[in-house]
Amino acid sequence: MSATIEITNVSKRYGALSVLDDISLSVKAGEFVVFLGPSGCGKSTLLRMIAGLEDVTAGTISVGDQRVDTLPPGKRGVAMVFQSYALYPHMTVAQNMSFGLENIGLPKGEIEGRVQQAAATLEIAHLLDRKPAKLSGGQRQRVAIGRAIVKEPKAFLFDEPLSNLDAALRGRTRLELAQLHARLGSTMIFVTHDQVEAMTLADRIVIMHNRGIEQVGTPMEIYRRPASRFVAGFVGSPAMNFVPLKSVTGNGRTLTIGTDGLGDISAAFQLPSSFTPEGASLGIRAEDVSVLPDGQGGIALKAEVVERLGDRTLIYGHLADGTKLTAETDGRSEARGGDTLQLVLDTTAIHLFDAAGIAHHSEGE
Ligand SMILES: Nc1ncnc2c1ncn2[C@@H]1O[C@H](COP(=O)(O)OP(=O)(O)OP(=O)(O)O)[C@@H](O)[C@H]1O
Ligand SMILES: [Mg+2]
Repeated sequence: MSATIEITNVSKRYGALSVLDDISLSVKAGEFVVFLGPSGCGKSTLLRMIAGLEDVTAGTISVGDQRVDTLPPGKRGVAMVFQSYALYPHMTVAQNMSFGLENIGLPKGEIEGRVQQAAATLEIAHLLDRKPAKLSGGQRQRVAIGRAIVKEPKAFLFDEPLSNLDAALRGRTRLELAQLHARLGSTMIFVTHDQVEAMTLADRIVIMHNRGIEQVGTPMEIYRRPASRFVAGFVGSPAMNFVPLKSVTGNGRTLTIGTDGLGDISAAFQLPSSFTPEGASLGIRAEDVSVLPDGQGGIALKAEVVERLGDRTLIYGHLADGTKLTAETDGRSEARGGDTLQLVLDTTAIHLFDAAGIAHHSEGE
């Protein structure tokens, strides 16, 4: 069972403080949508408004073809899973999972069937008689998801459900969630500020910033064609490099992009005539900056810190004019802090951002 979620012109204010401003978003039935953004940007607030734990200040929210923003949480057909699992300590796993269903007066046999089935799905059937204190963090987290599954909601809302788990368990549970989504086919909205979770789980990512939605797209759209300098800098690790622009010349497809740090770069772009270099910047990811073998002329980078990650090496340094830049090279690199390296850019992977932060992507991409 799954339903669309339609958020239309929704705003949220706490007194004089505006937290979300005129948000509209359509989530498809069965879609896995991730809200991603910096701390305090309103991810939880938006999720809680869908769940009915916060009122909307303006706008409407529908689940399926039913308008829900005027309904109490229990009548909306959605189930929310929180970061803190909030299990009842004196109840067993089975009781924790069935509690909500008893409250709505579902027959005993039906409740038992749903609990057994959810427990099997989540591989916690052997834990049904245990109390939460005797469970690991990952097991508690699955119980919390189980409690949502038995409600057979039209949509699941997750607010950073994995953030209390250690890195390994987090990775495993992430995979389990993806499998659960594939199996149930339910609509899911998942809030996180973990990019890896967003990239791996989402059908579409919603990037939130400045009280609004900055971009909605598939993970690779967001990564390869960020709509703004904010998105470009927020998604990807290490963060995208930005170099100030000095000039843009040429017309037609190939432009000469003048910078102090990187010199003149030739790249294919179709820029609007209104584009000016004032306040604009060039963006390129570390993985699109390569280090040339010794002795070959390129763009000079003075290495400051070298990070060896095993499979690859990150070189943090600065260009001739002092602009900071990160380059990526292979794991066997012998580069050391203090070295001057020669770089070459993949000019098909360049982005230009105007003074307002609006992105333009190389046509070579
Ligand atoms: N009850 C409240 N009263 C006033 N301001 C609030 C209230 N709840 C949240 N806020 C403010 O609303 C903004 C959005 O908060 P929210 O919890 O939605 O952020 P978030 O994106 O989930 O952040 P995080 O990643 O840290 O969880 C914040 O600036 C927060 O301080
Ligand atoms: Mg939050």
